[in-house]
Amino acid sequence: MTESTDQNTANIGVVGLAVMGSNLARNLASRTGNTVAVYNRTRAKTDELLAAHPEAGFVPAFSYAEFAASLSTPRTAIIMVKAGAPTDAVIDDLLAVFEPGDIIVDGGNALFHDTIRREQAVRSTGVNFVGMGVSGGEEGALLGPSLMPGGSDESWVTLGPILQSIAAVAEDEPCVTHIGHDGAGHFVKMVHNGIEYADMQLIAEAYDLIRRGTGKTPAEIADVFAQWNAGELDSYLIEITAEVLRQTDAATGAPLVDVIVDQAGAKGTGGWTVQTAIDLGVPVSGIAEAVFARSLSSHPEQRAVSAGLPGPAPKAAVDDVDAFIEDVRLALFASKIVAYSQGFDEIRAGAAAYDWNIDLGAVAKIWRGGCIIRAQFLNRISDAYAAEPDLAVLLTAPFFVDALTRAQDAWRSVVAAAAASGIPSPAFSSSLAYYDGLRADRLPASLIQGQRDFFGAHTYRRTDREGTFHTLWSADRSEVSAQDTH
Ligand SMILES: NC(=O)c1ccc[n+]([C@@H]2O[C@H](COP(=O)([O-])OP(=O)(O)OC[C@H]3O[C@@H](n4cnc5c(N)ncnc54)[C@H](OP(=O)(O)O)[C@@H]3O)[C@@H](O)[C@H]2O)c1
Repeated sequence: MTESTDQNTANIGVVGLAVMGSNLARNLASRTGNTVAVYNRTRAKTDELLAAHPEAGFVPAFSYAEFAASLSTPRTAIIMVKAGAPTDAVIDDLLAVFEPGDIIVDGGNALFHDTIRREQAVRSTGVNFVGMGVSGGEEGALLGPSLMPGGSDESWVTLGPILQSIAAVAEDEPCVTHIGHDGAGHFVKMVHNGIEYADMQLIAEAYDLIRRGTGKTPAEIADVFAQWNAGELDSYLIEITAEVLRQTDAATGAPLVDVIVDQAGAKGTGGWTVQTAIDLGVPVSGIAEAVFARSLSSHPEQRAVSAGLPGPAPKAAVDDVDAFIEDVRLALFASKIVAYSQGFDEIRAGAAAYDWNIDLGAVAKIWRGGCIIRAQFLNRISDAYAAEPDLAVLLTAPFFVDALTRAQDAWRSVVAAAAASGIPSPAFSSSLAYYDGLRADRLPASLIQGQRDFFGAHTYRRTDREGTFHTLWSADRSEVSAQDTH
């Protein structure tokens, strides 16, 4: 076995050299001033990386002791291994060879609760622990990801310049900021993924509506998306949608989208976003519908037995194709505003619950490059928070109010047309329902409070005076103030 002879020569190390880790290591090595130590549990991956990229000047390590010895102090290591138990195992191994003041960064997709737990445990040893969200997939890791580090202010001093050197750049600004302490970075990455689920589902619904409403082919719809990408919807996801729709399957000559099985997979971060939102009491209904739409698609047995259920009589194709497509575009834009507004609402609620001082405008800025949801539109979100840092609901910022004013009639007609035609549009519909719920003068929640009081004496408040009340439903139905009931 080759032993590493380099001592203290690397300023940063990467543990875990699968696709993300090796690309991140190459990205780090390509930036002036960095020498990168690399370690992987299975030696073959390290050997392959070294052989394929001699230009990177990696310092290989074949044991944790060698890895620690190859790093200058404070030692800084980024873990890029399978999230979960492997992360804990690697942290334990690093703690055995690291010293107080060193920094361990977890760049995997960890659940923020785990990051909070790990940060506490690692901090008690004097080593710093940083949970860092990494977005952009393998290409982002190599060329410039969007990075969402949490952890202490002390670690940011060492880590900040290194991360700024490898992050994507959007409008001359690196797509990285110190999000907040302990689990803040992974929390924000989780919500990023939740918004990504919603964005993808909305785009898929727009495609489905255009295809079934107008009879256009996938290649023709690719042109529509390419055109949309030149306007206010300009974003990575719209751009790649056009690419996917334009692709022809080499084996059959059919559009690739027609050959791919229509069951969407998921790795769980969208579900975490929804579960966390439920815990925090934040209505992220668009994101939830996107997660459930993937679940529904992935139950072929239920879909098979339901295929004969009655639907509406077939509708003729729309009369004015261009007008319909424009309506779908506006509905997509409006629903997308809702998805982002809900996501930022969750980050705000998370920051309050976990005592993180998160700059929401800065979060929008670091998502402008490198990550999957990168979009022009994020500039408008950072503008909105710059103008009003305590904005309670993002979609009430003037830019979004203007956009929703322009879009809402089209949005309603698209959702109505989808319902009348039996075309599922769960994310479009739920986003519109959320919007109407928010702006409603009165909600039927008053009736729900009445029902709760009826069966469970859960009490209610009145619109006309202070206090908590209960109606004696099983007696004379007179009202008493709540304390009288106990
Ligand atoms: N793929 C993406 O687009 C993306 C984007 C952002 C974040 N991430 C996150 O980045 C991390 C790495 O992702 P990936 O796709 O490159 O790799 P992965 O398939 O998630 O994990 C493979 C890596 O984990 C190591 N590993 C597994 N169990 C281990 C253990 N018990 N002890 C030590 N090492 C262990 C493997 O080492 P061996 O070679 O020895 O098996 C290998 O290096 C994950 O947390 C992932 O969620 C991925």
